[in-house]
Amino acid sequence: MFSLIQRPRRLRQHPALRRLVQETHIQGDDLILPLFVCAGQKIKRAIPSLPGHYQWSCDELVAEVRALRDLGILGVMLFGIPAEKDAEGSHASHDKGVVQQAIRVFKEHYPECLVMSDLCFCEYTDHGHCGVLTASGRDVDNDRTLELLGVQAVSHARAGADVIAPSGMMDGMVAAIRTALDAAGFIHIPILSYAVKYSSALYGPFRLAAGTTLKQGDRKTYQMDPANRFEAIKEVELDIAEGADMLMVKPAHTYLDIIRDVKESFPMYPLAAYHVSGEYAMIKAAAAQGLIDEKMVALEVLTAIKRAGADFIITYYAKEIVAAFPRQRV
Ligand code: PBG
Ligand code: ZN
Repeated sequence: MFSLIQRPRRLRQHPALRRLVQETHIQGDDLILPLFVCAGQKIKRAIPSLPGHYQWSCDELVAEVRALRDLGILGVMLFGIPAEKDAEGSHASHDKGVVQQAIRVFKEHYPECLVMSDLCFCEYTDHGHCGVLTASGRDVDNDRTLELLGVQAVSHARAGADVIAPSGMMDGMVAAIRTALDAAGFIHIPILSYAVKYSSALYGPFRLAAGTTLKQGDRKTYQMDPANRFEAIKEVELDIAEGADMLMVKPAHTYLDIIRDVKESFPMYPLAAYHVSGEYAMIKAAAAQGLIDEKMVALEVLTAIKRAGADFIITYYAKEIVAAFPRQRV
């Protein structure tokens, strides 16, 4: 008989003991739900690329907001699908714009909910890029886009957004938004910067959902090369210097090493990870074929993202996970 001094299996025998020594837990409070709001009325349009998700017009959104309140969803990330697009994405900053109205719906029907608004131009420009184009039309005009981002941020803050989340990867976007918010009196509105956003093929289902698929070209002059690790630290360092309050790595499941790097380098800044549309859709598709146990796989993936170092996760699974594991009310 072997008398082994250490037997790790001793701690795996009793289910309660396993729970006791579990290091990472996924709770409802870790999750933020992305939501798509669209122009028009009486619209609850299923999104084929994101099973279980819908485009909501603001009138229909009311019932959904109540459902989210009953479920105890902690927060949402809002994306707008406007009625009209133009070269400058001018609808993005309208006081009566889709996102602005949706923010007000949340404030009226579920004020406890943390409302984050994604700040970008790709949903609003007719060419689909995340900013306005240069004269040649071949690239995004970084600094002109910065001015417009400031205006859009203030309009979200005026509508009542709790957190502004710029996702366009423009150089200097955090500083520009911070300056604009402060000048308009919104010194207390935090910025969650999509600091580390890769040029990923995993955004496909989102682009179909939001109508932001590019007619031509790609986003490689502003989104990061998936092959780059140390560049992530540079992006984060710059965003912190510009005033970012919270950081994000995106995608999440495919970038666990980056999540770990960022958390270890800047542990004092809350770190979000975006479990993106393609990562969600792959689990959905495999589950639909009966290949995997969807709930267990989703939970395992989200646990891995948190274990890697994310403090919270933006995920299309937020509702299902919160429903399966109800949040503790305070
Ligand atoms: C807009 C934006 C995108 C996502 C979040 N904000 C799409 C993109 O960069 O094309 C991706 C979300 C997802 O895939 O779930 N800038
Ligand atoms: Zn964009």
